[in-house]
Amino acid sequence: MRIGILGSGLMGGKLGTIFARAGHDVAFSYSHTKAKLEKLARDAGGKARAGTPAEAAKDADVLLLAVHWSRVDDVLTQVGVLSGKIIVNCSLPMNADDTGLVVAHTSSGSEQLAKKVPKAHIVSAFNSVPSEVLFAVFEKKGAWARPSVVYCGDNAKAKKVAAQLITDAGFEPIDAGPLRIARYTEPFTLLVAQLAYEGDRGPAMAYRFEWFEERET
Ligand SMILES: NC(=O)c1ccc[n+]([C@@H]2O[C@H](COP(=O)([O-])OP(=O)(O)OC[C@H]3O[C@@H](n4cnc5c(N)ncnc54)[C@H](OP(=O)(O)O)[C@@H]3O)[C@@H](O)[C@H]2O)c1
Repeated sequence: MRIGILGSGLMGGKLGTIFARAGHDVAFSYSHTKAKLEKLARDAGGKARAGTPAEAAKDADVLLLAVHWSRVDDVLTQVGVLSGKIIVNCSLPMNADDTGLVVAHTSSGSEQLAKKVPKAHIVSAFNSVPSEVLFAVFEKKGAWARPSVVYCGDNAKAKKVAAQLITDAGFEPIDAGPLRIARYTEPFTLLVAQLAYEGDRGPAMAYRFEWFEERET
């Protein structure tokens, strides 16, 4: 797949690198410095390259949105036309000092995003895992019981693409349903963040859902 990374920081930089190493054609964009984007592309290898958000989005099969909530409008404006594009959104609607969600329970960041770009197909994914665990999961891919990543969205094709990227990154995609479920998955991330950043076992952690046969006794 041709993947445009919008926001090349902790999440975008690492996921873009993982997607490139999984064989995808990745374009890194949106950083304060072009040199950082170029270094990410060099280090990722393969066909990875650096560009502007508009260049990263042109001809992309899918975009990964990985910016602070306060930068969403700016990066979307820089992309330009988003009609028909698949956007995998890992951004969370956090306030300026990252202490709380500015939208939750009755809506979600992903639903607000879908209202901003109604002709794009939004999937909420990857926002429930800390960036610190991404390379470790990718490196152990196939060698263990995969951790889960929940995702949700309203467009079947976009969800298929997101599920493929989740699988390629070494996680088990868990389809949580329509995009409105992001109002539950986004707050869930704050629990994950609490365990990752306030727990005493470090931030390189993930979660795994398991299903069992129901027993009466
Ligand atoms: N970090 C996590 O573990 C994690 C986990 C789940 C969800 N999330 C969510 O994912 C999103 C991204 O988080 P992150 O931790 O990856 O953030 P981050 O490391 O701060 O990355 C944000 C990217 O946006 C770029 N950027 C910010 N302001 C810019 C500007 N004015 N002009 C150009 N580029 C600009 C940054 O540039 P530079 O490259 O110059 O810094 C960086 O590449 C957030 O919504 C966050 O809530 C994060």
